[in-house]
Amino acid sequence: MDAAALKEQFEALRAQEFHRLDEGGHAYLDYTGSGLYAESQLRRHIDIIERQVFGNPHSVNPTSSVATRLMEEARQDVLRFFDADPAEYTVVFTNNASGALKLVGEAFPFGPESRFVLLRDNHNSVHGMRIYAERRGAQVVYLRLDAELRLDPDAVIPPAGSGPSLFAFPAQSNFSGVQHSLGLAEKARSLGYQVVLDAAAFAPTNRLDLGSVDADFVCLSFYKMFGYPTGVGALIARREALARLQRPWFAGGTVDFVSVEHRVHQLRNDASAFEDGTPDFLGIAAVPVGLDFLRSVGTNAVHERVVGLTARLLEILASARHGNGSPKLVRYGPAGLEARGGTVTFNLLDAEGRLVPYEAVEESASNAGISLRGGCFCNPGAAEAAFGLASPEMLDCLRSMPPGTFTLPKLATCLDHKYPVGGVRASVGVATTEADLDRLEGFLASFDASEAAKEQATAAG
Ligand SMILES: Cc1ncc(COP(=O)(O)O)c(C=O)c1O
Repeated sequence: MDAAALKEQFEALRAQEFHRLDEGGHAYLDYTGSGLYAESQLRRHIDIIERQVFGNPHSVNPTSSVATRLMEEARQDVLRFFDADPAEYTVVFTNNASGALKLVGEAFPFGPESRFVLLRDNHNSVHGMRIYAERRGAQVVYLRLDAELRLDPDAVIPPAGSGPSLFAFPAQSNFSGVQHSLGLAEKARSLGYQVVLDAAAFAPTNRLDLGSVDADFVCLSFYKMFGYPTGVGALIARREALARLQRPWFAGGTVDFVSVEHRVHQLRNDASAFEDGTPDFLGIAAVPVGLDFLRSVGTNAVHERVVGLTARLLEILASARHGNGSPKLVRYGPAGLEARGGTVTFNLLDAEGRLVPYEAVEESASNAGISLRGGCFCNPGAAEAAFGLASPEMLDCLRSMPPGTFTLPKLATCLDHKYPVGGVRASVGVATTEADLDRLEGFLASFDASEAAKEQATAAG
């Protein structure tokens, strides 16, 4: 589709399905934080749940079977959406992507002969899996990034250990927007690993075809893809890989039987063995509705649109200059569109080239009705690489703040303001328009670092 037709399609969509953004005066640029729902999704969901009676899917009665059918249909629809063969893959419903990662981390049979290999560029919910690996004596290996925050081409994936080994990477970085090669999955499997693909930031605006990506476990959160429901995510798992996991406990809904007298239990042999307690069956009813919304817009059209918006966003950031001609900001990650998604992180600079604290930018943008995200975005590895935070004094500073006392501004002070401790992230999605980006451009042009510092000082009292 040509650019003008695409623009027309998405502006009409914005007016029809997302006009609450314009009514509220919002320039929403935090799609990596959360997607937004189309209004018709809510109507369709209400329509489904208001006409039928849904009982607990764990009961066996007519109302329960309606809920069970709905959940099973949702499972099949998720597999269809990602081109995952139902004979090979199944879907475990979780609360979010983090819940999916935890299920794998806590049940993966790590041992002293195992390796857990992961990119430095990962969300904390992937890094957190290292605790399970370390507790069981596995070796944890981090792969470094290059100056563009891509996987360093010289980084070598070591062969898997002689025990069960796991490799984890994000399809798209929630910090830099970098899209890591999906071929890493096949490469890691050929080296003996099982593979966790974090698709949370990638799935909303890119087609993920599990017929051609060799991952054992894929995690995602549906609110990131289409805004609603919140509180439902998925672990899409190869059946064979799921069967090799060792659950650390059982719970309601996960077992064929439990005997108190004989202290035995038997986990079920399908996805339900991983769904602890009563699932969010009404929320899950909204998942096929959201998938249908993306299908109706067209996943390729969404992708193309986001590529175009990202080009404009990068251009705005590259051309922001002070009156004296010096750059108004520093961007982290790739300058171009190749192998990247619609997420860009940067920091503003004053006219003398000094960094402006990200909090001041975030706050001024908020005052202007622009939703950005500030900080490290739960991605410490990409942040350390981007900001140069790997120095030994960083560790001293982190250790100097006991639980409950840590803040990023205190960390900045401890580091003598030599490095940024956070950045500003802008991300685009299905409802973004050029007008939102124009507002960001206007904001950057009028941003006055010394005014913002004064406002912050006043607010801090
Ligand atoms: C790449 C990536 N992975 C995992 C997560 C965790 O998602 P959730 O907070 O929905 O569990 C996020 C959230 O921002 C993310 O961007």
